[in-house]
Amino acid sequence: MSWRTPGHRRSLRLFRDGAGATPAHMAFPSAPLPHPDGWFCVGFGHEVAAGEVITRRSTGEDVVLARGASGRLRALRPHCPHLGAHLGVMGTVTGDDIVCGFHRFAFSLDGPCRRTAYGGPPPRATLDTLPVRETGGLILVWRARDGSPPTWEPPALSTSGWRAPRGTMYEVAGHPQQITENVVDFGHLEHLHGATLAAAPEVSFDGRECGGRFRVVRRLPRVGQVSATYTFRVYGLGLTVIECALSDHVATRFFALPNPVDPWRAEFRFAATARVAPSERVPRMWSKPASGVAARLIRDAFYVIHAHGGSLDLPVWHYQTYRETPRLAPGDGPIGRYRKWAEQFYSTPPATTTGDCHAVCDVHQRQGHGGQH
Ligand code: FES
Ligand SMILES: [Fe+2]
Repeated sequence: MSWRTPGHRRSLRLFRDGAGATPAHMAFPSAPLPHPDGWFCVGFGHEVAAGEVITRRSTGEDVVLARGASGRLRALRPHCPHLGAHLGVMGTVTGDDIVCGFHRFAFSLDGPCRRTAYGGPPPRATLDTLPVRETGGLILVWRARDGSPPTWEPPALSTSGWRAPRGTMYEVAGHPQQITENVVDFGHLEHLHGATLAAAPEVSFDGRECGGRFRVVRRLPRVGQVSATYTFRVYGLGLTVIECALSDHVATRFFALPNPVDPWRAEFRFAATARVAPSERVPRMWSKPASGVAARLIRDAFYVIHAHGGSLDLPVWHYQTYRETPRLAPGDGPIGRYRKWAEQFYSTPPATTTGDCHAVCDVHQRQGHGGQH
């Protein structure tokens, strides 16, 4: 694509070589925040076809994903209950069973052992299944440090009319709380991304969700000045959905998806999709395919623009420390309120506190900058 975001290549180079800097997970003696609880994206639905098994990692453990012939997706702890083979390595899917290749015990994808290759009755053995959801083309697994079941559900995102998400993944030194903080860090929009806020952003924190809206003006190479209004919703620390309507008929949607892999190491997935309502001015037999093609082109264009723009964050995150008491200034986003909201996603509270940060934010509000919060 010819209209690259200025600084994109340099940013990726800085992310990869750091100009001699040490990535954050190696630079500090211990992770400043533990793994959070919640739903985290470990892949896109189209990455696991019926009959396939893949392995992903989240909060320090492998997670095996297997899709049965019926299309059911299941997430499993990796090791076979028999003698411990890794099902992501040795497992194959037959119908809606997974068969471990070490001794060929077959397990229902719901857990129980159905049969062995020895012919006798199966042992009372059950696979450890993990809560998994598919929504909007994403695969989300529930992770809780104390092993507790889900206490809330991710949103049911419609896929009707939307193209499959086009996404990418980076392995970064970082943490979902710090990465997701980006969406309310309005101060960096202009100074890192070159997008000027056209009005005071709106933000609210409500239970497990944080939501808001902001309007920016920016200059795109070969396109010129454009303005756009983004509406975002954050569901826990692993799923941010940002939507931007281009017209009554054309909508785009982006996902920012940090998945905590190991202490202060995360996979960061970014994905884009688009929907174009069929036009009544096009003959009926052509309108649906035409809107599908248009949606794919728009998705791909927005993917490139926003993936390039988003890449500017990578060298920040990869070498960034966690400032427990950041020295905030008027013009910053509602960092303190965000961190207070984020505390609910730890089954045991993080050792750090954000008290000093709250005090700084309160000062801003008294100075008349509360409208941006
Ligand atoms: S270890 Fe899986 S069948 Fe034996
Ligand atoms: Fe950013």
